[in-house]
Amino acid sequence: MGGAWQLCLLALALALAAAEDSEWAGAGDEAEAVWPESEPEPWAAGVGAALGAVVTPAYRGPGNNDTRANRALPIVLWWSGGLFPHFPADTARVDCARGSCLATRRRQVWRQRRTRALLFYGTDFRAYEAPLPRLPHQAWALFHEESPMNNYALSHAPGIRLFNYTATFRRESHYPLTLQWLPSLAYLRREPLPLPDKERWRQRGYGPVLYLQSHCDVPADRDRYVRQLMNYIQVDSYGKCLHNRELPSERLTDTSTATTEDSEFMTFISRYKFHLAMENAICNDYITEKLWRPLHVGAIPVYRGSPSVRDWMPDNLSIILVDDFGSPQELAEYLHFLDRNGEEYLKYLEYKKPGGIKNQFLVQSLKSREWGVNDMTLPNYLNGFECFICDKVNERMKAEREHRKSHGKVKAPEPHIAHFTHMGCPMPAPGFGNIEDIPEGDSWKEMWLQDYWQSLDQSEALTAMIHHNESHQGKFWDYMHEIFLKRTRQH
Ligand SMILES: *[C@@H]1O[C@H](CO)[C@@H](O)[C@H](O)[C@H]1NC(C)=O
Ligand SMILES: *[C@@H]1O[C@H](CO)[C@@H](O)[C@H](O)[C@H]1NC(C)=O
Ligand SMILES: *[C@@H]1O[C@H](CO)[C@@H](O)[C@H](O)[C@H]1NC(C)=O
Ligand SMILES: *[C@@H]1O[C@H](CO)[C@@H](O)[C@H](O)[C@H]1NC(C)=O
Repeated sequence: MGGAWQLCLLALALALAAAEDSEWAGAGDEAEAVWPESEPEPWAAGVGAALGAVVTPAYRGPGNNDTRANRALPIVLWWSGGLFPHFPADTARVDCARGSCLATRRRQVWRQRRTRALLFYGTDFRAYEAPLPRLPHQAWALFHEESPMNNYALSHAPGIRLFNYTATFRRESHYPLTLQWLPSLAYLRREPLPLPDKERWRQRGYGPVLYLQSHCDVPADRDRYVRQLMNYIQVDSYGKCLHNRELPSERLTDTSTATTEDSEFMTFISRYKFHLAMENAICNDYITEKLWRPLHVGAIPVYRGSPSVRDWMPDNLSIILVDDFGSPQELAEYLHFLDRNGEEYLKYLEYKKPGGIKNQFLVQSLKSREWGVNDMTLPNYLNGFECFICDKVNERMKAEREHRKSHGKVKAPEPHIAHFTHMGCPMPAPGFGNIEDIPEGDSWKEMWLQDYWQSLDQSEALTAMIHHNESHQGKFWDYMHEIFLKRTRQH
């Protein structure tokens, strides 16, 4: 999680401080409509106390006519407690575009009838810790904007299908977090260093290509490729991985400098003609600052990551894709060619000129997204996601109510289940060469292939537990054992 949403939280905290608790509380009496009259309301007794003080923000969506009192609202529970976009309370009333909810991180309310959605952070979600039994009236919602390597369970169909709603980096998810690392179009338009300046740095012995990576053991296995590339072209590597050169100052080596938009740091990397930009894991639309930053400073990204990355590029000649080349040698030859031919090189920076951003899909996507990055005028995506779920929950409750009232004439709402494409990342593949040629005992092979397939077993085990209405979390490893036996019988 970056600093962007913390800023937004600050804005929210200020809004909360100004808010009046009394404005909506007690205004309506819709509680009866939410549940059939014959059923007791389990929250009526204890839930107020369990939730403690509720903070009510001042803002409400323009289409929201929700007049219910706090005690009558559905609850969305952030199961991953580290993630809760409200401050300072543990519980807040959220008035979203179409309806209202109580958002909380207090797990005591988990089994309440009124608790209609559990919100999970993908990186923290572990099959062996999932809340069981799964309650049929509760939707599970996934928020995952980080690397697929953080939780490969979500890359398998049985893993992602545990969830009813998703917000991931993929455009196919219900609440897409695509382009979350790109603040704005203006970010792409920053002036590049003039080519003659870059040439001067070349003459002083700088290589044409920059590599800057300190996280070496990753599923994308990028070092295996870069090591080959280094045989054919000078790559200046300043990070821990394949390190061969020192940064010019102590200050720049500090990782907190390197991971922020430090201007001295940006100036330094802008001297390079090419910047290796390789994601730590491969998946459609998993695109990070590793790509946007070189585009920002005008060092041509030599990219490997999302296979569909071209969809988002400012024009059709702004990056060089590693996988367009048959070998590291062929890639190096092309980079040498551009290094010697200024005119050809500069074609890759045309997008910096006025009107140079030709990709309307990119332009429209940035324009239409409702959340912001470092933008105080827009909600952050955690609040946006929470409201998306709140609206879904209210919509579904309304449909259920209509179904009940109609005595079956109106159909019950269909279950809503996430699809493989909401994450669905491929098996890690070697950064260079064939998997059969990589010896046993290779640390990448041992770690990431195992992790990927074990994650599949884990999501199948949890699916089976839910299917059996299992309430004892501790049985997880028994289910895993069953799945293991089944697999070995198949082979
Ligand atoms: C809210 O009220 C307005 C005006 O009465 C109405 O047009 C709109 O459909 C209502 N919205 C909802 C979600 O009920
Ligand atoms: C990029 O687009 C221009 C204009 O549409 C076209 O002439 C050119 O051939 C394209 N280049 C590539 C590499 O696709
Ligand atoms: C949520 O998904 C599960 C399957 O994973 C399904 O059984 C349940 O009906 C879904 N719930 C909703 C509210 O769509
Ligand atoms: C599932 O388990 C819970 C708790 O053990 C129980 O209350 C519920 O009736 C069970 N539901 C089904 C369909 O078996």
